[in-house]
Amino acid sequence: MHFTNLPFPTVSPAEAASFLRSGQTIAVGGFASAGSVKTVLRALAARIRDEGKPFRVRVFGASTDANVDDALAEVGAISYRTPYQSSGPLRKQINARSVEFVDMHLSNMMPLLKCGALGPIDFAIFEAAALSREGHVLLTNAVGAVPTFARLARSLIIEINGYHPDSLEGLHDIYELAPPPFTREIPIYRTSDRIGATLLKVDPAKIVAVVRTDIPDAPVPFQPIDETSSRIGENIVHFLLEERLAGRIPESFLPLQAGVGNVSNALMGALCADQAFPPFDMYSEILQDTVFDGIESGRIRFASSAGLTVSPAVLRRIYDNLSTYRKKLVLRPQEITNHPEIIRRIGLIGINTALEVDIWGNVNSTHVCGSHLVNGIGGSGDFARNCYISIFATPSTAKGGAISCVVPLCSHVDHTEHDTQIFVTERGVADLRGRGPRERAQLIIDHCAHPDFQPILREYLARGAEGRVGLDICRAFDIHGAYRERGSMRPEGRDLVK
Ligand code: COA
Repeated sequence: MHFTNLPFPTVSPAEAASFLRSGQTIAVGGFASAGSVKTVLRALAARIRDEGKPFRVRVFGASTDANVDDALAEVGAISYRTPYQSSGPLRKQINARSVEFVDMHLSNMMPLLKCGALGPIDFAIFEAAALSREGHVLLTNAVGAVPTFARLARSLIIEINGYHPDSLEGLHDIYELAPPPFTREIPIYRTSDRIGATLLKVDPAKIVAVVRTDIPDAPVPFQPIDETSSRIGENIVHFLLEERLAGRIPESFLPLQAGVGNVSNALMGALCADQAFPPFDMYSEILQDTVFDGIESGRIRFASSAGLTVSPAVLRRIYDNLSTYRKKLVLRPQEITNHPEIIRRIGLIGINTALEVDIWGNVNSTHVCGSHLVNGIGGSGDFARNCYISIFATPSTAKGGAISCVVPLCSHVDHTEHDTQIFVTERGVADLRGRGPRERAQLIIDHCAHPDFQPILREYLARGAEGRVGLDICRAFDIHGAYRERGSMRPEGRDLVK
């Protein structure tokens, strides 16, 4: 493919940003920290700051780069955001209710966009490694929702980022589903199956500006792997090996999905380091740093993802070894990475992280004390509901031990007891499959709760409200109330961490 002599106007970020108007909807490429736009929205933010006039746009996209959400939020330019974010400044505005945030399963976004339920997209703004005059786009280290955004948007602004080599060609598998009643089965049977094109085709007539950059992604660094996360990882390894021994996982193993954040990065590190754990594939929406240690050591045979959400050092390692990685990696649209059909078919083992779990099996991944958003549900629900084995992991406590992550009732529910199977903390594993509410509660308290909080949880369970479940609705949020009032869920006089 020839990527030179572009007939499109190559302009400065500020000139590209000058097309954007208050009231518009902009769809931003990238996925989590990978492949987001670097300069155009920063330039827009600078213009808004200089002009000092109110300017608000609706922003779509699972990109979480500071050049998008932080930059726009800092000048108060976001009125509406969906489906995911993880920006500090934006989080504050969402929790202050000055920005409307719609927390959406990532797989649900494309059908809603295609049927028009989310309204029209004025601009799709995304990053490319290269672009041809016919409108063939070589995407960078993420695909995300760009194929759908680019097709539906009225106009396109493309940042060609020279940091990403043309030799990326071959890594992507671009495929879009037709809307009902024309939707067909997705012919992916193994994680490594390729069904689409290596390049994205856009309508060249819609390209209004092309900007050139060479700026790498700037993800938030992972925290060092601590003992708690290592133990969670070990518990998961032990559980999965037992499942294989019991014949519920085949000898050749099943593909894994791993969620976002520090805990997930650490436990994938533990899985990859454990020599007893067999080599496996990944079918995930994101791939964090430790996965690449696993690929390089041969523990991970093949990995499929919507983006390479890795530190700059790991991305460099991948780019320096692209000829090897091209055989071991594929980047797909989030419509495909998160599609229930494939997750069910390939028998995925999903491992996602919870903020809190309750003794009945519900999971809160998103809202502290039921009200304050942390990030968003992302793809965790797509995977949890459709996985062959659905694991939720969390440290048993948070905030230096002041918070129990096992509670009588989740203060917000993202994943109901019907979508959860296995809970894991550093204390142990609760296998909830086939168990009724009282049995679940006992298992979760005995195996997952921190010993300091077990008495409160046992007392709650023993209180014995009537009914099948025995949930005492009047006392269910007592420990959340204590946290709000005193900054600790511990019984009064026991605020020291043991
Ligand atoms: N109550 C209050 N705060 C809590 C908490 C609880 N029960 N549990 C964790 N926290 C806080 C931590 O203290 C930390 O706060 P800090 O940043 O101020 O230190 C923050 O939440 C993140 O916790 P951490 O232990 O560092 O977890 P993480 O980086 O592994 O992220 C989630 C955990 C749940 C926030 C993250 O996995 C997420 O956003 N999940 C939803 C999206 C998702 O699952 N996508 C799946 C597919 S990629």
